[in-house]
Amino acid sequence: MRKMILHAHSKCGSANPKSKASFTRGLVYLPAMYSSAQLALRYLQYWITASNGRGYGIHSPFVFDFVKYVLGNREEYYCYPIIEAVRERMLQDGRVLQVQDLGAGSRTITHNTRVVKDIARSALKLSKFSRLLFRLADYYSCRNILEMGTSLGITTAYLASACYSGKVYTLEGVPDIAGVATENLHRLHFTNVQMVQGNFDETISDTLAQMQTVDLVYVDGNHRKEPTLRYFDTLKPYLHNDSIIVFDDVHWSREMEEAWRVIKQDSSVRLSIDLFFLGIVFFRPEFKQVQHFSIRY
Ligand SMILES: C[S@@+](CC[C@H](N)C(=O)[O-])C[C@H]1O[C@@H](n2cnc3c(N)ncnc32)[C@H](O)[C@@H]1O
Repeated sequence: MRKMILHAHSKCGSANPKSKASFTRGLVYLPAMYSSAQLALRYLQYWITASNGRGYGIHSPFVFDFVKYVLGNREEYYCYPIIEAVRERMLQDGRVLQVQDLGAGSRTITHNTRVVKDIARSALKLSKFSRLLFRLADYYSCRNILEMGTSLGITTAYLASACYSGKVYTLEGVPDIAGVATENLHRLHFTNVQMVQGNFDETISDTLAQMQTVDLVYVDGNHRKEPTLRYFDTLKPYLHNDSIIVFDDVHWSREMEEAWRVIKQDSSVRLSIDLFFLGIVFFRPEFKQVQHFSIRY
């Protein structure tokens, strides 16, 4: 758990540097996230109150299935070691990248540098969660997948492995980081990934217009309330009954917890599953009664 808390605490993000709540951590501006102690306390509360990760006491057949076949699936899929070998490579990579603070806007870009191995250590989703996203995409047969926040392309690779007959659109704002991700995805021979380089604010609308509809969206960048809710609103017209949206780090800061609360209360959301480090929402109208679950993972 400590590893996960520390990992979540060192996530990269993009925030408005003019905001009083922002400060720099490393070279990237971050919103006021919880301290490690606050996060640990929240994690403890989640662990105590969440439903058992084996499905005991969960009466919704859909959620029971999710717990059994997605969350609790311990099968070692063929792609896991192949993708993890690329992560390992990234953890040794000493190349220095130019990294802009996206929150500063394109007119006042502040250029900074970051080493690939530091990004691999701090910004990527732990394999446990990337694999969960793979199983989610696989189990629900997602074909049109959007990832907001590519970083080095590790989770992108998991998503692409789950949808060989579909396509993953992945958005990344920092050109050097997008370049390394593209290299990694080529190395893994994916032909079903489209990298879209640019600020989400500028790329999301055109990307969605190309996609026409989305089966699965993974929102993993710009962890602030206002943009998160704005992206959610932008995504809505492209959702269908079986669409799934996964929001990263919904308990990472007060702002993200507020955004998560607003999303769960949205009239389109029929089911939410809170896994602490990820929040998942479903829109299926057949769920007559809106339900919110918190499940240990
Ligand atoms: C946490 S990392 C993504 C990790 C990746 N999904 C994974 O699991 O391996 C977030 C990424 O989103 C990018 N990002 C943040 N805000 C952005 C924005 N407004 N537009 C485009 N990219 C952004 C950052 O440059 C960073 O590479």
